[in-house]
Amino acid sequence: MAEEKKKAQHLLSIEQLTEAEIERYVDLAIELKRQRAADVASSKEPIAKQNWALIFSKSSTRTRVSFEVGIRELGGRAMYFSSRDLQLGRGEPIKDTARVMGRMIDGAIIRTYDQQDVVEFAEFSGVPTINALTDEEHPCQILADLMTMKELLGGWKGRTVAFLGDGDNNMSRSWMWAAERCGFRLVIGAPQAYQPSEKYLSRLTSGNIICEKDPSKAAEGADVLYTDVWVSMGQEEESARRIADLQAFQINDRLLEAAAKDAIVMHCLPAYREKEITEKVLEQHSDTIFQEAENRLHAQKAILAVLGVR
Ligand code: CP
Ligand code: NVA
Repeated sequence: MAEEKKKAQHLLSIEQLTEAEIERYVDLAIELKRQRAADVASSKEPIAKQNWALIFSKSSTRTRVSFEVGIRELGGRAMYFSSRDLQLGRGEPIKDTARVMGRMIDGAIIRTYDQQDVVEFAEFSGVPTINALTDEEHPCQILADLMTMKELLGGWKGRTVAFLGDGDNNMSRSWMWAAERCGFRLVIGAPQAYQPSEKYLSRLTSGNIICEKDPSKAAEGADVLYTDVWVSMGQEEESARRIADLQAFQINDRLLEAAAKDAIVMHCLPAYREKEITEKVLEQHSDTIFQEAENRLHAQKAILAVLGVR
């Protein structure tokens, strides 16, 4: 029964991690990637016979596929539920859903709107709970992004990441917490109305996160140019306004020119060509961008291996 298990660990937010915890996930992900390439992963099954539920209220390609494959590769079983499939979709409270599922499953992976919902599920289920994207944060993506930086740039120490576009969404926020914990320089390039909210800025103490309204200045000297969609899931009604407002922050040849000579370009995907990034820049940097997408699998296997230990 859930009550008899040791206290579950969760991954709900990058803000709640230390740099040592972030490095543990990233280094384990790199090791699991090496083992997978050497085809020895099947002998390492840290979640053998465990049942993990994916509960998704929003669309997903990368997160769903990488978790389902990762769980199987680590010896566990994955069950996917859209929130419509569950009584949750008909109004059953999260705390009841969590208490029922927590007595049957070994862990939960949740994609939803409100951060409070994953916090509540974690609290009431008693099983490891992973934030697979909320409106507030996308911690799994950031761990894969940091892993990609480590593979391609040797790490994040002394590096500058320029995040361009919607500076007040789940991705920019997870980047802020990663920079706050790991000490690299982060420039958020966004118009005033899309700069991070005061609610989050007031929680920063490190001084290495800079808000910049001029797109060229934001990109200047950056080692990583990073972007995300301008219209996040749930914001579809604001599409026209957002696309008009964010045009100057598109990653294109001009902004790339302002970055460091060997700058890499990253995108969490899905990408909307000629909106947040041009087709040309995306295709020129597709090796990096799809390595980053593949790293979702390895990073999430690391998360499962750490949190799934009984
Ligand atoms: N980057 C990302 O989370 O992709 P999906 O929405 O396809 O899972
Ligand atoms: N900010 C985007 C991320 C997609 C992976 C969204 O929430 O839709």
